[in-house]
Amino acid sequence: MSAIKVAILGFGTVGEGVYRTIQSHAEPLAAVLGKSVEVAAILVKNKQKQRDIHSDVLVTTDFADILRLPELDVVIEAIVDKNPSFGYLQQAIERGCHIITANKEMFAHHGQELLEMANKQGVSVGYEATVAGGIPVIQTLRQLLNINRVAEIQGILNGTSNFILTEMREKQQSFAESLLLAQQLGYAEADPTNDVEGFDAFYKAMILSRIAFGAEPDWNDVERQGITVITSELIAAAEQLGLRFKHLASIRHDGELLTASVKPVLVGKENPFYHVEGVENAVNVYSDIVGRITLQGPGAGMFPTASAIIEDLVYVCQQQHGEKQTTQGLIPRQTPNNEQTEQAFWLIQGLPSDGKSLEVIWLQEVSERIFLVKAGQTKITEFVNQHPEAFCFPIDGDVELLTSDPAAIKAV
Ligand SMILES: NC(=O)c1ccc[n+]([C@@H]2O[C@H](COP(=O)([O-])OP(=O)(O)OC[C@H]3O[C@@H](n4cnc5c(N)ncnc54)[C@H](OP(=O)(O)O)[C@@H]3O)[C@@H](O)[C@H]2O)c1
Repeated sequence: MSAIKVAILGFGTVGEGVYRTIQSHAEPLAAVLGKSVEVAAILVKNKQKQRDIHSDVLVTTDFADILRLPELDVVIEAIVDKNPSFGYLQQAIERGCHIITANKEMFAHHGQELLEMANKQGVSVGYEATVAGGIPVIQTLRQLLNINRVAEIQGILNGTSNFILTEMREKQQSFAESLLLAQQLGYAEADPTNDVEGFDAFYKAMILSRIAFGAEPDWNDVERQGITVITSELIAAAEQLGLRFKHLASIRHDGELLTASVKPVLVGKENPFYHVEGVENAVNVYSDIVGRITLQGPGAGMFPTASAIIEDLVYVCQQQHGEKQTTQGLIPRQTPNNEQTEQAFWLIQGLPSDGKSLEVIWLQEVSERIFLVKAGQTKITEFVNQHPEAFCFPIDGDVELLTSDPAAIKAV
């Protein structure tokens, strides 16, 4: 039986998980692919580190050694940062290899170029692991895109942020305490900016937008807010209303308009994201025939991510090359529609005491300087622009009033 020769770039959490899974699942891989899979080489940064790698495997710090291998079919990339990963994958495609990546930051920036290059070269690209770890959201979208038209995708795409929000609520801890615990447990990096400021979820949302709609909104038009603005007081106020904070990425295709946001949203018990806790990820896909599909599972970690990559390995080896294009024929506008005026519920912290700065339908004080408000989107947008010190969080769905006492409700 001939072999599929694979190189793995990186031997950290993801790279090692892939290596070990290729060993542990050699039999089913060979049965499905009709060939065994052999790891020919591994690229690392520091060759002095002790690693459990078979002596037959070339371990190198020089990518040129990998390109010089006499046989090479697939390059799996699991290193960090946009560069040198992008350059390595370009060279791998030029060499005629299928590529697979887990690197969302690189793929959000350069994915389209890699897909086009791969198409010309007649090779395939796997990137399931870039979004929601072990959850097969990209494969699901590929399946759906034959006839279904996707209208909206929403997701909890960053397990670290979801873990911190869960800890803050369950243990009544501060953001700082919960972040420290996430770091101690290995869920958050020493520099957590990418996770807690929403960049990681933003990159994933743009990758999902590209596959579901064949386009991305202008990155400058995407509202991106992380979870650092959420205080214990806000979490407690939300609990009083039966709501939970979730950091949600949303991409919506409405006619010709493609809009996206990545920000904290309050959800009630009836919302499928309400019960998604800890490091779990979840994705809702709304499409015209099937309706809503919810996918939930581990968004990161050694073996969930290896699972996505191994499934991609089968996909790229079996694929007639070329990414399936969505049939939606979307022409994205460059600017969002500011005429949106629908009324909605908001939790607002820092409403000035004059009460006149925001035109509301009604408002109710939940706790000190935290208000439940019913107001139009346009008024809220104007208010936020004029009051950067105030924070407004949308509530997804209806809420029950804390009291029906008219004296406690200020109608305007
Ligand atoms: N961790 C997860 O659960 C997860 C889930 C989905 C996607 N991802 C993505 O997968 C990628 C890898 O994540 P990870 O958690 O496995 O990272 P990691 O544990 O920090 O490992 C990174 C690996 O890449 C190697 N490396 C870094 N820069 C390199 C360079 N310039 N040249 C060669 N090797 C280099 C490192 O080599 P040394 O060992 O020699 O230092 C290390 O083996 C990232 O893009 C991440 O966003 C991670």
